[in-house]
Amino acid sequence: MSDELDTEAMKKFGFLVWNYKMGEQVSLMIHLGDRLGLYRALDGAGPRTSQDLADELGLSERLVREWLLGQAAARLVDYHDDGRFELTPVAAAFLADEQGSLSFAAGAFRGGTDPVHLDALVHSFHSGLGVTYEQQGTAAAAGLARMTGPWSRLALTSVILPALDGVVAKLEAGATVVDIGCGAGVTAATIAATYPNTQVIGFDPSSTALSMARERVAEAGLGNVNFVEAGAELLPADTGADLVICFDCLHDMARPDKAAAAIRQAIKPDGTWLIKDIRSSGSFEKDRRNPMLAMFYGFSVASCLQSALSEPGGLGLGTLGLHPERAEQLVREAGFSSFATHDFNDAANLYYEVRV
Ligand SMILES: C[S@@+](CC[C@H](N)C(=O)[O-])C[C@H]1O[C@@H](n2cnc3c(N)ncnc32)[C@H](O)[C@@H]1O
Repeated sequence: MSDELDTEAMKKFGFLVWNYKMGEQVSLMIHLGDRLGLYRALDGAGPRTSQDLADELGLSERLVREWLLGQAAARLVDYHDDGRFELTPVAAAFLADEQGSLSFAAGAFRGGTDPVHLDALVHSFHSGLGVTYEQQGTAAAAGLARMTGPWSRLALTSVILPALDGVVAKLEAGATVVDIGCGAGVTAATIAATYPNTQVIGFDPSSTALSMARERVAEAGLGNVNFVEAGAELLPADTGADLVICFDCLHDMARPDKAAAAIRQAIKPDGTWLIKDIRSSGSFEKDRRNPMLAMFYGFSVASCLQSALSEPGGLGLGTLGLHPERAEQLVREAGFSSFATHDFNDAANLYYEVRV
């Protein structure tokens, strides 16, 4: 049958398909490099041999050599003619420097999908009911925290909050901050550490994520953060929040409209609601200009849309569903009257400053 098909077209399409398989394999290798400390050992060390690297990390030289050759083939690590390997400073920003680089990406490579989650994904296509973040498991929550963590740790208090009208002064003096959909607590912990007079409350329905969040604040010795295991809809009306944060979570909620209504009740009349959500336009044709679009649809089918369909009647926005127009409609329908978009050159996200 395939003999009748155009040979050139077959070649091209075969390359396209197998390129994704290559991506799967290289993704697994990135996970191993991150987990075994290989990228960190290469960072700033100049050209190194596989033996040198294996000795430092106590690993098998033969396996390290194969991994390095694969990394060179993937153009992630530079190969020198003398058989040594080097991580450039640019590569280190993406693969090694978790604490100092906004571009750090290696933490997002989880080494595959948990088989239980995979079966649940298949099932969701039949039932129409998605899998919650809690059901997506520990590795998913940990991977997410490492994926979104750099922007919360490195840009939130230095770039994002100072761009909001009057927020920093309130946080310095002592305010109430609610971090909705707080996940593993990176944002909540960053705010609590930077503004010791401020009380931070993290809300999330996932006990898995919250146990990581609690561990994080305990390790940091922060006494001004509490976590509540609940969805945004259950935010008490008498919270009196000066700042409500929704980072990368409204599009994951089954009922973001109910969340917005609860936030409207819980926020002070002069409070600020800061939303971060995925850059999208609401038009598939326009979004197609994004060369990474297929990855975002993958995140959606496997994760965000799952959560957004995890209750009967879920609105099902999904990863690309909260574009600026939709976000503005959502907040205005909940009774907010001021909506401003901020672009902080975060490649994946836009930020919205919402006021009563
Ligand atoms: C993509 S994660 C983002 C976590 C964190 N804000 C961050 O930036 O890393 C989405 C989070 O939204 C939470 N979530 C889902 N439905 C929710 C709801 N109804 N109310 C509050 N949080 C919800 C999930 O449990 C998950 O932790």
